Amino acid sequence: MNIFKALIADHQTQRDLSARLVEVLGNDTERLQVYEELKRELAAHETAEERCFYVPLFEHDATVDASRHAIAEHHVMDEMVEHLDEIDPHSREWTDCLHQLLEKIEHHLKEEEGKFFQQAGEVLTEEQKESLGRDYEAEFASMRQKVEES
Ligand SMILES: [Fe+2]
Ligand SMILES: [Fe+2]
Repeated sequence: MNIFKALIADHQTQRDLSARLVEVLGNDTERLQVYEELKRELAAHETAEERCFYVPLFEHDATVDASRHAIAEHHVMDEMVEHLDEIDPHSREWTDCLHQLLEKIEHHLKEEEGKFFQQAGEVLTEEQKESLGRDYEAEFASMRQKVEES
């Protein structure tokens, strides 16, 4: 599977979990379960994507800005998750922050798919797209395992 298909497949998982989360907001137990699952998915994806996609893209002048921008956004999302973990999950603030996080995630996925992947497609060879896809899938699986155990 090439790197773009692999990344988009996991983006879809995040979108499905985000939609599910909105559906179950009224149910305390389910809401926190889906939130925890989205958190694990997000954390594993970010790290694997940075290691197997953005770091190799720093090699090319044309994709330095995109890589820097995407990694900075990962950091912002991590901070939003950290904040959510610190505040009362039954408060209005928690729900407001969650909606902000979900919006940020969707904005980020759209920017990657609509802009950064096109730029990356122009600098990576077909062979690299395939090998990075394999690297990403292996890294994602191993990160999911680690996140699960932590
Ligand atoms: Fe990303
Ligand atoms: Fe991504």
